[in-house]
Amino acid sequence: MAEIADSFGLLRLPDSIAFGDGSRAGIPTTVAALGSRALVVCDPFLASSEPFAELLQGLDDAGIVYTVDSHVVPELPVKVVEEAIERARTASPDVIIGFGGGSALDLAKLIALGLAHGTPLNRFYGENLVPGPVLPLVAVPTTSGTGSEVTPVAVLADPDRELKVGISSPYLIPRAAVVDPRLMVGAPASVTASAGADALVHAIEAFTAQKRTPTWNEQLPVFVGRNLLSSTLALEAIALIGRSLRRAVHNGEDFEARTQMAYASLLAGMAFGTAGTHLSHAIQYPVGALTHTPHGLGTGMLLPYVMQAILASDAGHLAEIAGALGVGPGSGSTEEAAQAAVEEVASIMADIGLPRDLASMGVKEAQLPHIIELSLTVRRLVANSSLEPTEETVARIVRAAFDGDREALAPITTGGLNEGETQK
Ligand SMILES: NC(=O)c1ccc[n+]([C@@H]2O[C@H](COP(=O)([O-])OP(=O)(O)OC[C@H]3O[C@@H](n4cnc5c(N)ncnc54)[C@H](O)[C@@H]3O)[C@@H](O)[C@H]2O)c1
Ligand SMILES: [Fe+2]
Repeated sequence: MAEIADSFGLLRLPDSIAFGDGSRAGIPTTVAALGSRALVVCDPFLASSEPFAELLQGLDDAGIVYTVDSHVVPELPVKVVEEAIERARTASPDVIIGFGGGSALDLAKLIALGLAHGTPLNRFYGENLVPGPVLPLVAVPTTSGTGSEVTPVAVLADPDRELKVGISSPYLIPRAAVVDPRLMVGAPASVTASAGADALVHAIEAFTAQKRTPTWNEQLPVFVGRNLLSSTLALEAIALIGRSLRRAVHNGEDFEARTQMAYASLLAGMAFGTAGTHLSHAIQYPVGALTHTPHGLGTGMLLPYVMQAILASDAGHLAEIAGALGVGPGSGSTEEAAQAAVEEVASIMADIGLPRDLASMGVKEAQLPHIIELSLTVRRLVANSSLEPTEETVARIVRAAFDGDREALAPITTGGLNEGETQK
């Protein structure tokens, strides 16, 4: 109870979230409540799929006029996004549907933004810079990972910026999310692995995010840090992913595992959409830019190193994670349980085929200083962990992740930080 007394809760979510096998049948009704002219943003691969044909039939039956835009590309270059906004102006929709992985959902969010507030989009890069509501969006994910169906973020690439950029605003939260695990069954193992790994990172980073005291009478930041409501969702997501990610990757037809992953990824999105993520995400930004590897491959590979680095300052939360994962010595110390959580997460990442270190991802040793420097520019994320947001903190994690040497980070109290030093 003590934790409730000195903590707080905050969630910002869609007006409605539907989850379950068959819930896709409700999309036309959900859309009809928001508008009558829909723009459907869909991944080109999925545009020829049976569930997508069923969706269009359902829209027809509900009397909704629609156009389809399937010019979704991974990494979403800003030029592609602004061209999509131009095309959408001609169609003049009053509701947007995003159907696909994180890339399709983010494009749908950015079109909803561009139609409401115009281009260029670089005016909105950063946090809380969207001036008002965007077009209503119904988000239908077909991967289990990004949580974009419930988050206030859209990510894109701009050649003027070295790193991908995020537009974060509560106005970007979809009005409705429809999460039907049946839609994820066809996702390839590599996508299931990288997206699923990212969902675990979202949950664990939300659960171990910095605890702050909100200034309630001012505009709150988009990401407010660890809080009671996000932590409850994050812990449940961790437990489910621990049980189902390996199974979903190794047998995509395992519908129970697919269902657990779809639900867990949704919960993780709800959690990190308010709490925020931290160091694995900050360091993945430059790693992704240099190696052109999927987002979740980088965040997932980095997570065990980040967990090892926070063990000394946040053993209690890592021990709770061990409990959720069903590992950890029942009678051991908090630190032993925390270490068991790190080992289990490293084992999950290895079992689903993620690279174990930065070198295996194609990073060269000479690039490490650049990675450290650029990670530190993603200030919001670096400052959202329980560690001091210093160059030394990031450098130790990056070095250990390059060498594949978690032991270099454990125990952190005998390294760069003094024993007993508080790192909040
Ligand atoms: N907005 C957010 O909150 C948020 C959070 C994390 C990541 N992201 C972004 O999301 C993107 C990654 O999204 P993703 O991992 O979902 O991948 P993705 O959307 O880029 O899709 C990856 C591939 O999987 C295919 N695919 C998707 N669903 C499928 C299915 N059911 N069956 C068969 N193939 C399928 C797609 O055709 C594509 O080729 C990155 O750009 C990342 O920056 C956004
Ligand atoms: Fe992520």
